[in-house]
Amino acid sequence: MRSFLLIVSLSIFLTACPRIRKGESRVNAEPVATNGWPAGYQAWSKIHPSTLVPGPDETKQVARELYVQATPDAGVGTVLVKELYAFADGAKGPLQSVAVMRRTGGVDNNGWEFMAFDPNTKQKQPEAQCVGCHSIQEDNDYLFSSLR
Ligand code: HEC
Repeated sequence: MRSFLLIVSLSIFLTACPRIRKGESRVNAEPVATNGWPAGYQAWSKIHPSTLVPGPDETKQVARELYVQATPDAGVGTVLVKELYAFADGAKGPLQSVAVMRRTGGVDNNGWEFMAFDPNTKQKQPEAQCVGCHSIQEDNDYLFSSLR
């Protein structure tokens, strides 16, 4: 009797379980973007990043690419993505970091949120003084580059 009850309750449990439908896969080819990774940014408009201060130290130089998805007035919803590539002997090396400015409309920094990602894991990198540096451009909406 006991084992009968066990089988009945087990089969109820199993039927109630969500099933994976045919052709549906639970395995994602890419890490899931849940933490602010700007998915698909390479299809956005590409603009030339203006370089204000070329690094005096060769090893600290980077090659940059800048991608933008902007509302007409660069308002809430605008996202800027700066890729930083290693740069040595005049040549672009591997992609090292993906820096993101996202206008979320918060009270600080004209509503810009700053974050950086490891391009391989798509995980957040420790934010290295983003605002400290960009605030020297406070009069220009915290931007170094022109979005137009
Ligand atoms: C030492 C100063 C400095 C720091 C720190 C810094 N940035 Fe920047 N950032 C710049 C400069 C200069 C530019 C202009 C483009 C260039 O020269 O690379 C720029 C450009 C950008 C852009 C393109 C829009 C624009 O303003 O031109 C984004 C997005 C960006 N940075 C995000 C970040 C994030 C996110 C962080 C923190 C993880 C960060 N930055 C930290 C100096 C800095």
